[in-house]
Amino acid sequence: MEPDRRHIPVLMAEVLAALDPQPGEIAADGTLGAAGHALELFRRVTPGGRLIACDLDPANLEPAMESLFTIGDAFDLHHANFSDLPALSPDGVDVLLADLGVSSMQIDDPARGFSYRRPGPLDLRMNPAWGPTAAQWLRNVGVEELTTVLNDFGDFTEFGPVAGKKLAQAICDAKPTTTQDLTRVVLNTTPPPKPPPGRFVKPWQLKYRPVACAFQAIRIAVNRELASLHQLLMDLPRLLRPGGRAAIITFHSGEDRLVKQAFRAGLRAGEYEAVADAAVRASPQERYDNPRSRSAKLRWARRPR
Ligand SMILES: C[S@@+](CC[C@H](N)C(=O)[O-])C[C@H]1O[C@@H](n2cnc3c(N)ncnc32)[C@H](O)[C@@H]1O
Repeated sequence: MEPDRRHIPVLMAEVLAALDPQPGEIAADGTLGAAGHALELFRRVTPGGRLIACDLDPANLEPAMESLFTIGDAFDLHHANFSDLPALSPDGVDVLLADLGVSSMQIDDPARGFSYRRPGPLDLRMNPAWGPTAAQWLRNVGVEELTTVLNDFGDFTEFGPVAGKKLAQAICDAKPTTTQDLTRVVLNTTPPPKPPPGRFVKPWQLKYRPVACAFQAIRIAVNRELASLHQLLMDLPRLLRPGGRAAIITFHSGEDRLVKQAFRAGLRAGEYEAVADAAVRASPQERYDNPRSRSAKLRWARRPR
């Protein structure tokens, strides 16, 4: 049977090359998801090591536990934010991975509201037990704040200098409560971008690009994703044990910028002895096999011994 490509962990070989997990080490996976990376990290720190993993989405823990038990029982899974890792692992960790964004299971579940392709309530929370849903958040947000969110997290300036503001006003007027409501408002307000020169892009992909960008921007805001990442980056040099390695995979330029700046500042301050010179990207084969990998950027950092 053809494997389900959406569950294939991105940049697996590159993650393992950057982290080089060894038997006996403590590995942390801050974004457990379907446990694809976690399973491989756990396999490599076994025997003698331990895996500590967390996810904001409690639905991911039980299936992950079943897979991990096929290797051993030296693991702890937490329904938690990765910014809580210093408290969850007070002795520090030797390797740490954060593979940001949403999992394919979250996208596929219409009740979670992550996808404009699936009719459902406009929820968009990774942790269904925390904070307002996207619909509730959009009921109370102001046009100015929403404009900033669309421009900064959804790159709306790509669609014209005032496209973000126009859409923010339309969303605040319409107060969408379902994925279809939000999709309709975006399609009625934001014309598709021009195709990039010299490259064929399917017309429906261009048409729905502003919709995908709006969903991404609102998701990042509702889950306060950049605040969690910022906290992790601040704590990372002390969370890593001497010689410890961290790898972070991002899918949006705003996240990548935060990681790049934090790693470079850590290098200058002597908190890291080496960091990635440039973002590591998926190989042509992986980009072909798994379209999600096309926007993935991996950066790594290593603490001195
Ligand atoms: C791209 S998926 C991870 C996929 C995983 N590496 C695998 O191999 O299956 C991202 C996961 O991280 C979780 N997540 C995102 N931000 C988080 C945070 N701040 N703390 C904990 N989990 C988070 C999401 O709920 C989602 O399940």
